[in-house]
Amino acid sequence: MEENKELEKPHKRRVRYKGTHPRKFEEKYKELQPEKYKDTIEKVIRKGSTPAGMHISICVQEILDFLQIQPGQKGLDCTLGYGGHTRKMLECLQGEGHIYGLDVDPIEIVKTTDRLRKAGYGEDILTIIQQNFRNIDLVAEEHGLFDFVLADLGVSSMQIDNPKRGFSYKVEGPLYLRLNPDKGISAAERLRELTRDEIEGMLRENADEPYAEQIAKEIMKTFRQGEQIDTTGQLKEVIERALVFLPDDKEIFYTLSLLLLFQSLHPTKQESVPSLSPCSALRNSGGKTSV
Ligand SMILES: C[S@@+](CC[C@H](N)C(=O)[O-])C[C@H]1O[C@@H](n2cnc3c(N)ncnc32)[C@H](O)[C@@H]1O
Repeated sequence: MEENKELEKPHKRRVRYKGTHPRKFEEKYKELQPEKYKDTIEKVIRKGSTPAGMHISICVQEILDFLQIQPGQKGLDCTLGYGGHTRKMLECLQGEGHIYGLDVDPIEIVKTTDRLRKAGYGEDILTIIQQNFRNIDLVAEEHGLFDFVLADLGVSSMQIDNPKRGFSYKVEGPLYLRLNPDKGISAAERLRELTRDEIEGMLRENADEPYAEQIAKEIMKTFRQGEQIDTTGQLKEVIERALVFLPDDKEIFYTLSLLLLFQSLHPTKQESVPSLSPCSALRNSGGKTSV
């Protein structure tokens, strides 16, 4: 019977790509299935790259040395991401204690939950909540105070790499730039709402962009001409037009300006950083926070 079911399954062709190696995110089918293609993953990491759909955690040993996690403790990871830090902290608990993991991203949180559950971390030791860490006090109110808190601020590689998420100007994608696509407005909508002065001010204050005036002017001109800036590629074109007066080797300026514009529009910049006060969620003065 089982055998028949297997035979009935429609054959799914893997995505085709040009050349000998997949280049686009969605073509990297081996990297996107790390459990199945462990050798590929190891090869990519050995080369110093991050496999598609994955995130390599930073300063793991330094964080563990600082937090000094003991079995039986209760901890909070404010930024679960791929779950790399959470996993290492869970190992330190040696099966006793509890970790709560928060993330605002409804897409990656599902995959990370699945990954950690499959790795053997059940609800008895790990609770994952889709929540903004700005609500850390509410989490502490509901689940009690913590012995240690980690906040690894920013975004995860798999969010940046996936063109559909609109976090990168390196590949064409929608100008979304949102950790939670179900909430708030996209970067494209935000750009449409702003005045020229606001765009210029935002570029100066959030990103120290030296060509803030020229870029803000070109964005407004584009809208006035009835053109849209809905994709990362369209935004790149606007910046290229704004910086047309620059001398040779323009590419570096375009890239820097795009980077700065992305930085100033970024939700992490806008909402997360000022709202984190982990100390109030700690059990006592001996509790440790790593941000
Ligand atoms: C640098 S990654 C964390 C990577 C993680 N430490 C690991 O080892 O895989 C940052 C994560 O924080 C999440 N994030 C950013 N701002 C947040 C916020 N205000 N509340 C909760 N999560 C947030 C992002 O969605 C992203 O997954």
